Amino acid sequence: MKLLVTGGAGFIGSAVVRQAVHEGLEVVNLDALTYAACLENLSSVDAMPNYTFVQADIRDRAALDRVMAEHAPDAIMHLAAESHVDRSIDGPADFIETNVTGTFNLLEAARSYWEAQGRPERFRFHHISTDEVYGSLGKTGMFTEDTAYDPRSPYSASKASSDHLVRAWNETYGLPVLLTNCSNNYGPFHFPKS
Ligand SMILES: NC(=O)c1ccc[n+]([C@@H]2O[C@H](COP(=O)([O-])OP(=O)(O)OC[C@H]3O[C@@H](n4cnc5c(N)ncnc54)[C@H](O)[C@@H]3O)[C@@H](O)[C@H]2O)c1
Repeated sequence: MKLLVTGGAGFIGSAVVRQAVHEGLEVVNLDALTYAACLENLSSVDAMPNYTFVQADIRDRAALDRVMAEHAPDAIMHLAAESHVDRSIDGPADFIETNVTGTFNLLEAARSYWEAQGRPERFRFHHISTDEVYGSLGKTGMFTEDTAYDPRSPYSASKASSDHLVRAWNETYGLPVLLTNCSNNYGPFHFPKS
């Protein structure tokens, strides 16, 4: 099983990479290494034979095509994103370029690769999103997958946009996708200002 993880040098992505590599999966970590990345988070795996790091940007479609062709993943876990809400308020453009256009590029590269492989049923494109696409909760209440989208920041609007693209690529092209909307994560290697 070969897993392509985008954003694997970030907080959650590096936890995914560490676990998958230690479980024996072949893991390719594609990350542009923005300010949010920390390769030290991967020091426990970076010398392991089943781990490969590729510095690439999801805004670069040609680079994504090269990575798919060279590494032939069985599944993709897409975590690469601009992820900090406060930064999205100060400068939303990067959030649109990476979270919306970057996800579009990755979907198109994945679709092209998946079709060239004969549309394998077991292939998965797992898009990691946020519960912030559903808006905000007070002290009570809960979100479910049926809650209406109600993003309230440039960050959550960009993630909501990417969710819609992922759903559309499944409905329109049949690309096998998973879409998860987790709440705030915390734990070891957390970015100090998050
Ligand atoms: N942290 C949370 O609590 C939380 C909650 C819900 C959802 N999420 C989602 O989970 C995912 C991971 O979150 P995180 O907290 O680990 O983020 P993070 O900011 O710690 O890491 C993001 C990673 O993506 C990389 N990246 C950014 N732009 C890129 C680009 N254009 N091309 C390639 N790589 C790029 C960065 O270098 C970094 O390593 C994100 O999609 C985020 O929206 C996070």
